[in-house]
Amino acid sequence: MTLPGFPVARPRRLRTSPTLRRLVAENSLNVSQLVLPLFARSGKKLRRPVDAMPGVFQLSPDEIVREAAAAHALGVSAVLLFGIPDKKDAKASGAYAKNGIVQQTVRRLKKELPSLLVITDVCLCEYMAHGHCGIVHGAKILNDPTLKLLARTAASHAEAGADIVAPSDMMDGRVRAIRAELDNEGFLDTPIMSYAAKFASAFYGPFREVAESTPQFGDRRSYQMDAANANEALREVALDIQEGADIVMVKPALAYLDIIHRVKTEFGLPTAAYAVSGEHAMIKAAAANGWIDERAVTLESLLAMRRAGADILITYAAADVAKWLR
Ligand code: PBG
Repeated sequence: MTLPGFPVARPRRLRTSPTLRRLVAENSLNVSQLVLPLFARSGKKLRRPVDAMPGVFQLSPDEIVREAAAAHALGVSAVLLFGIPDKKDAKASGAYAKNGIVQQTVRRLKKELPSLLVITDVCLCEYMAHGHCGIVHGAKILNDPTLKLLARTAASHAEAGADIVAPSDMMDGRVRAIRAELDNEGFLDTPIMSYAAKFASAFYGPFREVAESTPQFGDRRSYQMDAANANEALREVALDIQEGADIVMVKPALAYLDIIHRVKTEFGLPTAAYAVSGEHAMIKAAAANGWIDERAVTLESLLAMRRAGADILITYAAADVAKWLR
């Protein structure tokens, strides 16, 4: 097909009014796509702000319910739950404790807001004294011994009522281990949303302050992906799908739109984009200085993720976005 050229073709014809522009819009943002990350820690009426992330708090379970209820009332259908335990150790006991902070909070959320989807982040870094996502031996992060702990953690989340479990550790084989444990425990219908292509990124800085999960030595480059690699991201995603992932995630989002696009095009699975803490912090900081329009930039960034192929948008701005979309 040869396309007509100018003057027959005038792309501006379809831009003459807001209604016409809406009619031909190829992508859109909808509140049903949004997931709000929340950080739980023990206590009552606790709302501890975090320097690097304006608008984000460490919340006690009662406050989590309040925050989630407010977002849910605006149409946000899902939260992604992280936990900050009272005690850390070398085997991440708090991650799979029957009454751990995430397990407690999930039970409360499911009781008080049954229609809200509760997704739990499955990782060990917040629960390990050394802040790494796996069992440490010397300077090494051990892969296979870590799988058992991750599987136990995921099953304990499902047992507490989690609707979806989301492993973010980047150990090899964790999706298979988690699927096997969930099935073994009778949670055949609990989906896995894997952080399938998760890059070792400087954009996670502010998160580690909120989650108190900064590694005490070294970095995460022996398990998270190198920012230079795209083909490897496809291999990572393919492996997670083979092992049983139901939803795959790319993280961070804005600097990795090419990965989102390739993952969606190649596999066609429900694909999530995680607009991470550093992305959020940059928008907030520039907006606070009056340098950019927070609302316009946030919506444009999320729309870019949709255009790249993301179905699900995990964003700290979920509640604001829900308001703006009204
Ligand atoms: C835990 C985890 C991290 C994030 C999500 N899950 C931090 C990390 O890998 O260091 C980052 C989220 C964000 O920056 O918003 N492994």
